[in-house]
Amino acid sequence: MDWGMRNRIGRMFRPHSGRTVMLAVDHGYFMGPTHHLENAGATLGPLLPHCDAIALTRGILRTSVPPTAGVPIILRVSGGVTVLHEDLSDEAITTPIKEALRLNASAVAMSVFVGAPKEHQTLTALGQLVTEGEDTGMPVMAITAVGKELDKRDQRYLSLACRVSAELGAHLVKTYYCDGFSRVVDGCPVPVVVAGGPKLDSIEAALRLAHDAVEAGAAGVDMGRNIWQSDRPVGMLKALAAIIHESATVPEALDVLQETEAARSPTTSAGTQPQANV
Ligand code: R5P
Repeated sequence: MDWGMRNRIGRMFRPHSGRTVMLAVDHGYFMGPTHHLENAGATLGPLLPHCDAIALTRGILRTSVPPTAGVPIILRVSGGVTVLHEDLSDEAITTPIKEALRLNASAVAMSVFVGAPKEHQTLTALGQLVTEGEDTGMPVMAITAVGKELDKRDQRYLSLACRVSAELGAHLVKTYYCDGFSRVVDGCPVPVVVAGGPKLDSIEAALRLAHDAVEAGAAGVDMGRNIWQSDRPVGMLKALAAIIHESATVPEALDVLQETEAARSPTTSAGTQPQANV
């Protein structure tokens, strides 16, 4: 692997753990102004120091993230349909690699839709993007099982989707957690990170998902709604970092969250014990 490619990948993973806490904020490219991302800059500002990378489009990057933020960028480069379209798989590359280089991105990301009507279109686009990524030293992350593929998120489907992505050359794969997740990881020769999906019933459930995913071999998370739709997003990121980088248990991570929140607002948290949403 070329030096530039290794350097870009290395920016996104902490050396001592070899894992990553990626913050996903790319939802607007097909969902519009998602709850809590209506003003992306306001939501993101306090979170940027606490994640290892952020995943987003060039539009939100340019409008909502200061160039001095210093956080590694995973640039979403696929799109072209919205939730109003009947076939979410009808995506194409919307942002060229030269734009990722101009923006000093650490990786590009695109969705593949295995088993969907536009499977061929998205998989061949992945192959082409990987070729361009190899030419320029730009890592490619394939994103599997989004949109209407959600109901197919079992281990056999996710194993297939992740393996196919890696076979086509993806350097990283993002997918969803499932029962038997270690088989998904074992069958995929490149690092796998997990998305969180829609906001879960509790913070504990989201931390449990991250914990079980890394226990099963995931290289970390690329999580969105369970962080920035939480009422304690900074605490959530620190709790995730404890799990992912320090192998904390879920109760230990909840302690980190409580300590973070107590330090951030001592007056409100002094009399507030762990309760709502935990
Ligand atoms: C889909 O819009 C994107 O790939 C998201 O980045 C991905 O689903 C992760 O975000 P969340 O944890 O909210 O599912």
